[in-house]
Amino acid sequence: MSNAVAGFSKLSKEEKINWIAKEYFPNPEEAISIIKNYWNADEKLQKLHDEFIENTISNFYIPLGVAPNFLINDKYSSIPMAIEESSVVAAASKSAKFWSTRGGFKATVIDTEKIGQVHFIFKGDESKLELFFTQIKDKFFTNTESITKNMQKRGGGILDIVLKNKTNLLPNYFQLHATFDTKDSMGANFINSCLEQFAKTLKEEAQAYPLFSEEEKDIEVVMSILSNYVPNCIVRAEVSCPVEDLVEKHIPNPKAFAERFVRAVQIAEVEPFRAVTHNKGIMNGIDAVVLATGNDFRAVEAGIHAYASRNGNYTSLSHAKIENDIFSFWLEVPLALGTVGGLTSLHPLVKLCLEMLENPSAEELMQFVAVAGLAQNFAALRSLTTTGIQDGHMKMHLNNILNQFEANDEERHSIRKHFKHHVVSHSAVVDYIENLRKQI
Ligand code: MEV
Repeated sequence: MSNAVAGFSKLSKEEKINWIAKEYFPNPEEAISIIKNYWNADEKLQKLHDEFIENTISNFYIPLGVAPNFLINDKYSSIPMAIEESSVVAAASKSAKFWSTRGGFKATVIDTEKIGQVHFIFKGDESKLELFFTQIKDKFFTNTESITKNMQKRGGGILDIVLKNKTNLLPNYFQLHATFDTKDSMGANFINSCLEQFAKTLKEEAQAYPLFSEEEKDIEVVMSILSNYVPNCIVRAEVSCPVEDLVEKHIPNPKAFAERFVRAVQIAEVEPFRAVTHNKGIMNGIDAVVLATGNDFRAVEAGIHAYASRNGNYTSLSHAKIENDIFSFWLEVPLALGTVGGLTSLHPLVKLCLEMLENPSAEELMQFVAVAGLAQNFAALRSLTTTGIQDGHMKMHLNNILNQFEANDEERHSIRKHFKHHVVSHSAVVDYIENLRKQI
């Protein structure tokens, strides 16, 4: 059983590691050695990473891969992907190559509006609150001028603020619902600073409002925070081509393939159990690019899944159809991303990934991310509706098993040769390695 610790955050990095090692590991020296193995030899770089969060003891690696040959809006790009799951980068690359000879991907930003809310409690006459709001609305803009000045120079700022009556959901509950354009930044700090100033203005103005009773003047601000649900910050990615052009080695009958593909998407549209896994495949692509470019994948995940259930049922983010012998496949997702601020200029690998994407604007990054999601979804559905997913997946997973057993080159060669023609499963590979080792 482990002990509680007082003042852990005040310990030095070395002391923190020693405490953890002694507290949790039968062999503390070994634990310390694993932790330190992942330290960067460049002390300055390590310090930079140490300071991203609190109580840092080491670095946690996730592979950074690249999926090349993405033809997007008639321009080639290589997309960086940070992900631990085998097959994902391979699948994205395959999709990219497949569509590069069929017109490529089209991506369009539909809107870029961000949202923030001040949640408050007002006990009193609702019509008086509405009148108060219209009379003081300008003050929300003027009192935030020092915060919005720079953003306005870049062409962004506060778009609008509306009062929302939510008393049908919770007694006395109202909101200031504000919309923002944050240009190339994700905008979380900007939005939250504006909201906290709105809250201050709201309380101060209510106190001084002559038409309010004492109780009405006493507005209780519960919280001021941006929303990660951004249904008006939307990007669309699509591919299409004549059905007959879908033909290739694994698609000998393109018409049957297209029809089955559309059916697979329709199943995800109507069946939530399938929709979740279908969308998970999309998120394989989306999260990997979001992470590689230093954006907040938790925010993106939360917002996208809320969007997938916006009509009351959780449904597919992507759609497909065949019309006039043309196969089309597309998705629309909400993405609040930034290419300035946050980690984008601090993390050397994030900077490098953004450079690889030719320093995109936030709108361009939205397009890359959406395309990666669609490519991933296409690859998954293509496998699922033809060979099945395990064939390719387990072949990629073979490597992980070989590493786990520390197979040498000779063993690797023999195992790869064997499993070219045999079904890969964890136990089959383990049996094979054990037999091989018995023979020596
Ligand atoms: C695995 O990470 C993702 C898939 O399950 C997605 C899907 O089923 O569409 C293959």
